[in-house]
Amino acid sequence: MPYKERLAACRSFHTGTDVLRDAGGPVTRFALAPRWLMPPLVVVTSPQGMRDVIACRDSSIDKTSGVTLEMRRLIGPNLFVVPWEEWKPRRRTLQPVFTKQSVNAFGGHIAAATASVCGAWRDGSEVDLDVEARKLTMRALGHSVLGLEPTSEHDSLAEPMRAAVSYAVSRAISPVRAPHWVPTPGRRRARRAAAVLRAAALDIVRACRADPNRSAPLVQQLIAAKDPDTGKPLADNEIADELIIFIFAGHDTTATSISYALWQLGRNRDIQDRVATEVAQLGDGELTPGDVPRLGYTVQVLKEAMRLCPPGATGSRTTTRDVEVGGYRIPAGTMLVVGRMSVHRDPTLWSEPLRFDPDRFTEEASKGRDRWQYVPFGGGPRNCVGEHFAMLEATLALATIIRLAEIDSLGEDFPMAAPFTLVAGGPIPARIKLR
Ligand code: HEM
Repeated sequence: MPYKERLAACRSFHTGTDVLRDAGGPVTRFALAPRWLMPPLVVVTSPQGMRDVIACRDSSIDKTSGVTLEMRRLIGPNLFVVPWEEWKPRRRTLQPVFTKQSVNAFGGHIAAATASVCGAWRDGSEVDLDVEARKLTMRALGHSVLGLEPTSEHDSLAEPMRAAVSYAVSRAISPVRAPHWVPTPGRRRARRAAAVLRAAALDIVRACRADPNRSAPLVQQLIAAKDPDTGKPLADNEIADELIIFIFAGHDTTATSISYALWQLGRNRDIQDRVATEVAQLGDGELTPGDVPRLGYTVQVLKEAMRLCPPGATGSRTTTRDVEVGGYRIPAGTMLVVGRMSVHRDPTLWSEPLRFDPDRFTEEASKGRDRWQYVPFGGGPRNCVGEHFAMLEATLALATIIRLAEIDSLGEDFPMAAPFTLVAGGPIPARIKLR
C-alpha cells in the first residue's frame, strides 16, 4: 500500500483495520516509520489471532503500546493502561465492585438516571440520541459507582475526557512527534483537560472521605484497598487516577451502544415493536435487574448493536517476547492492533454482515459460533471489568425508553468517529412519540 493510504488507515483505525486486512490478510504487518522511530505494527483480524492476543495470560503480550504509554503519561496509571504485574493486584481489588451480584444493587440508580433524561421528553419533539444517551450513562455511572447525585453538572466531564484521550492516541500513532516537554497547543489543551478530570476525581474522593457512609462503591473500595506487600492504603491522587479511567471507560462506551441501538430501532419498526411487546409484558412499574431474564430480545438487540458498532472497535498491545499470533511468528517489540470491528463485520464469518438482525443472537443461532469472533467486551484476563454493569444499564435503559416512547430515526445514517472509542461524529436526530 502507498504510505499515505497506510497512514490514513491507521488514523481512522475503526475502519482502517478492514483496509489493512484486505490489503494483507488477517495478520498483517506494516510500518509507518523506521523501527528506531516507531515499532512495526501488526493488525490482527481473525478469531484465532484475536484469541492469541487478548487471551494471553502473561506479560509476553502486554499493555505497553504507545497508546497506553501516552495515556498513562497524561492521565496517570490506572487499571486500563498498567502492564501485567502492576495490573494483577489492582484488578483483584476492583473486581468485587463489578460482579453480576454487586451491580444488581445499582438497578435503582440506573432507573433514576433514565427517568431523569426521558422525563424531559415531550410528545413530537426532536432529540439527539447521542446527547441523550451520554447524559443517561454519565448520570447512571456517577450515581451508581462514584456516589454523585444525578444532576447535569457532571455531564461536562465527557468533553475533557475525550480531548485528553484523543490527544494521547493521536500522538501514539504519529510517526513524527514533538518531544514531551515541548508545550505545543495540542499538548496544553490535553493537559488542561486532564487537570479538569483530576480536579473532579479528587472532589469525589474528598467527598467520600468526609462521608464514609456515602454510597459510592468504587470509591469506597479504593479507599479501603491496601498494597498487598506494604499494607499501605492508596493516596487520594492514586485513587483519582483510577476514577478518571472509570469515568471514561464507563461512559462513552455504554452511551454509544445505547444510542446506536436506539437509532437502529428507530429505523426498523418491526424490531422496535418486538422490544415494545416484550417490555409491555412486564407491567408499568420501574424495571429492575430482576426483569432482565425476561428481556431476552432486548438483550439480543444490544448484542447486535455492539456487533455492528463495537465501542471498543480496536485495541492495542505490545509483544515483549517473540510470540505466535494466528499462525505467524511476531517478534518482540511489535505493536499489535486487534480489529474487533473487522471481526464483527467479516463476511466470511457472518452472513449479510451489515444487516441489523438481533436474531443472530438467539441461543440456537449462537450455538457453535467461535467465541473469538464476537468480542465487544474483549476477552481473556484483561476483559472489560464493567461488562455486567454496562449490560445491565443498557438493557434497563433501552427497555424503559421503548416502553415510554416510539423512536423514529430521522437520518438514514450518521457519521462515526473514533477519537479512541467509537462515538457518533455528529448528531443522531430522532422524533419522539410518547406512548
Ligand atoms: C458497552 C459498554 C462497554 C464496552 C463495549 C466496553 C469494552 C471494553 C473492552 C473491549 C475492554 C478491553 C480492552 C482491551 O483488551 O484492551 C474494556 C476494558 C475495560 N473496561 Fe469496558 N466497556 C464497556 C463499559 C465499561 C464500563 C461501564 C466500565 C466501568 C464502569 C468499564 C471499564 C473498563 C475498564 C476499567 C477496563 C480495563 C480492564 C482491565 O484491563 O483490567 N467498561 N472495556
